[in-house]
Amino acid sequence: MAIEVRLSAIAVSGTHGEDSPYFAGWKAYDENPYDEVKNRSGVIQMGLAENQVSFDMIEEYLEEHPEASNWGSGISSFRENALFQDYHGLKVFRQAMASFMEQIRGRRVKFNSERIVLTAGATAANELLTFILADPGDALLVPTPYYPGFDRDLRWRTNVKIVPVHCDSTNSFQITNKALEDAYKEASAMNIKISGLLITNPSNPLGMAVERSVLEEILDFIVQKNIHLISDEIYSGSVFSSSKFTSIAEILESRNYENSERVHIVYSLSKDLGLPGFRVGTIYSYNDKVVTTARRMSSFSLVSSQTQHLLASMLSDSEFTEKYIRTNRERLRKRHASMVKGLRKAGIGCLEGNAGLFCWMNLSSLLEEPTREGELALWDSILHEVKLNISPGSSCHCSEPGWFRVCFANMSEKTQGVALRRIHDFMEKRKRKQ
Ligand SMILES: Cc1ncc(COP(=O)(O)O)c(C=O)c1O
Repeated sequence: MAIEVRLSAIAVSGTHGEDSPYFAGWKAYDENPYDEVKNRSGVIQMGLAENQVSFDMIEEYLEEHPEASNWGSGISSFRENALFQDYHGLKVFRQAMASFMEQIRGRRVKFNSERIVLTAGATAANELLTFILADPGDALLVPTPYYPGFDRDLRWRTNVKIVPVHCDSTNSFQITNKALEDAYKEASAMNIKISGLLITNPSNPLGMAVERSVLEEILDFIVQKNIHLISDEIYSGSVFSSSKFTSIAEILESRNYENSERVHIVYSLSKDLGLPGFRVGTIYSYNDKVVTTARRMSSFSLVSSQTQHLLASMLSDSEFTEKYIRTNRERLRKRHASMVKGLRKAGIGCLEGNAGLFCWMNLSSLLEEPTREGELALWDSILHEVKLNISPGSSCHCSEPGWFRVCFANMSEKTQGVALRRIHDFMEKRKRKQ
């Protein structure tokens, strides 16, 4: 008999959550991907929050500035990049990131580049902060519906728990003080220590920025409970209009940075610049100890010097960044509008969004039973009959069945048209059946 080869508890634990429908849908797409020419009956990937609508501007920049992506004529710059890997990151790049983050927020706030810690994407940033702010067995409060990757990023290797803060459609899924208090009480009743609250602003999957008054309440709540606040602002540059977005940094500034030592902002270039393959994220903390510890821990998830070199050039060019931010916003706004319009034509309503790369659509009237099982049965027929991979709300821990996240920025306009036509036909078929 073969002897079992043992692995660690983390290796065999299921808390990574990667066996959820969110990831299963990606597999179905990989096995039969739609192609405008070669595979017109394939699965269209609408479950991937990727921004491809502004690639041409980045490609144009690289063409006009070949020095950004190569070493120039001398060998010294190659050596500098090949040999240098200080975990503080390149100073010019941290400065460029701080400036870009300010620009996205309409320069209403200032960021100090000495507080920027570089990580391999927001994935690493969120995990790293969890390691720093919570002990194993403690929990973070996370409002629902939330990005399914948090189950992996916050829980798997840290052994920290997630306590959901249930939000619902009665107030467009906005976070309320009551929902926060209820979740906190529930955790206390189970003897779970809450170390912090993690919000995503603008929200994935809702595609909506958190209102200023809600942020004020959230800040009061975390101060009152003596816990931390992580604000994942990965979609801050993908708000269709800058005035619609308030960063937690602005609230802190308006309060003269009182209690700021418990606030930490996460950002990444994966969404706003559409560069998830580059693995560039940041932690911006107002707490000196968190900055120092995060910097030490970032040794496990550094950004390559070559990537920093390229992006430092690009993001230091304010003419480019200004045009990019403005044009990208406008293109996302248009894409979002045509998606909402197409869905409405098919008889489907969406939450009124103002940000992100997706719509949060309501298919609850199509459920055979108003349960998670009913939702997954509908998801399964949309994946296998309609050949669209969308994300069921239950994979985002949504407490109301029937909501789905549908992405629109990872495909061409033409493919979006095909997807909308398929949805339209599906809805017509359903109507005829009733
Ligand atoms: C809210 C949120 N946080 C973090 C991430 C991970 O981003 P990154 O590619 O920078 O690791 C995502 C990606 O979808 C996200 O939506």
